[in-house]
This record gives sequence, C-alpha cells and structure tokens, in this order.
Amino acid sequence: MTEPSYLSATRAAYDIVAVDYAELLRTELAAKPLDRAMLATFAELVEATGTGPVADLGCGPGRVTAHLDALGLSAFGVDLSPEMVVVARRDHPDLRFDEGSMTALDLADGVLAGIVAWYSIIHTPPERLPVVFAEFHRVLAPGGHLLLAFQVGDERRHFEQAYGHAVSLDAYRLPPDWVEELLSQAGFAVHARLLREPERAEKNQQAYLMARKQGQS
Ligand SMILES: C[S@@+](CC[C@H](N)C(=O)[O-])C[C@H]1O[C@@H](n2cnc3c(N)ncnc32)[C@H](O)[C@@H]1O
Repeated sequence: MTEPSYLSATRAAYDIVAVDYAELLRTELAAKPLDRAMLATFAELVEATGTGPVADLGCGPGRVTAHLDALGLSAFGVDLSPEMVVVARRDHPDLRFDEGSMTALDLADGVLAGIVAWYSIIHTPPERLPVVFAEFHRVLAPGGHLLLAFQVGDERRHFEQAYGHAVSLDAYRLPPDWVEELLSQAGFAVHARLLREPERAEKNQQAYLMARKQGQS
C-alpha cells in the first residue's frame, strides 16, 4: 500500500535535518522547567499505575526518551525518519529506538503503560489525527497515560528551510480544545492541560495535554 504523501515528505525532511536538529536541541529541555515538570508528572503517574514500557512516539534524536529513562521509566523511541533513529541510537546507545509510524505501530494491543508524543503530531494533517489517536488508544493498556506537546494555533505552516537545510515540510498549529475533543472521541479522558507563553525563538503558545485511556488499570 502506498503511504500518504505527508509521511514521505516528513520522513525526507527529518532525514535531512537529523544531525543538526540533534545538535540544536540537545540541551533545550534544561532551559524549560515547565516542560520538564509535565514530563516529571507524567513519569510519576505512570509509575503510580504500575510498571510497563513507555513509548516516545516521534522521538527524533531521543532526547526526551533519554529524559524519560533518567526519570526511571522503561522508555523506548519510535520515529518515522531512519536518520533520526540512527542519531538517537548514536547518542543513546543503551536505549531502544525503532523506525516506524505512529499511524500504524508495530506493537501489540494494550502493551504500553504510557505514550509521549512531544511535538510529533504536528506534522500530521489535522483531519488525519483521529487515525493517530486511535492507534495510541490501541497500543495503550487500559488506564495508560498519554502526554502530548504541540504549538497552539489553527493553521498550516510550510517550511522551505529548517535547521539550516532546504526542506519541504508542513507543520500544523492546533487548537487545544479541538485536540481535547478528538482525544475524548478516541476514548481518552484529558485530565490536565498546560498552556505556556512563547519563550525565546518560539512564536506561539505551547500546549501540553495529559490524558488517560479510559478503562481499568
Ligand atoms: C519536531 S520533531 C520532535 C522530535 C522529538 N520528539 C523532540 O522533541 O526532540 C518531530 C519528529 O516527529 C517525527 N514524526 C513525524 N510524524 C511521525 C509519524 N507519523 N510517526 C513517527 N514519527 C513521526 C519526525 O520524524 C520527527 O523526528
């Protein structure tokens, strides 16, 4: 089956920028206490509901996967871009990174205790997000936790340049209320939302949504 063109375009763009993206973002979390607070809360919630693997979906160079590992979670990463996976394995040789798409994960039903999608749903055309959220729901255990990060807005941005390279890449700013509604339709209960104002080079508010797959844990 041929894949949708947005997946091929996203993969191609991140293959080009992988090495420089990793370099530029390497220490970014250290300067973002609110981002770390959401990841720490997520880790605490996952640990409180038992053990189990946590997937960092759209992990890029694995900086968030490594952060989750340092917080004590059994974390692994999945990314669409083979070059990102190469960089993630290079930078974090003790962690597991797989190539794959969050639209059709190579994971059995209900195997994950948690999912983090950190600025990685932003390249999925909004009308296709229900497919992604259905896949998140499928692979999470009942009661499993989900943490999303994305830029707030309601528009498509097209980039011809990124991280010092020529690319052709679309990214979508999303309205948090609408994302929450989609999550709820997919069987998640959203229980926390952080909207933070832009910092440094950011142009938009940033949204962090924490949700739980409905059902018993
Ligand atoms: C902005 S980067 C964020 C990377 C990482 N989460 C971080 O915060 O450093 C977006 C990442 O999502 C990945 N991605 C986009 N769509 C994806 C999909 N359908 N499945 C898996 N990964 C995807 C891209 O390849 C890219 O590495």
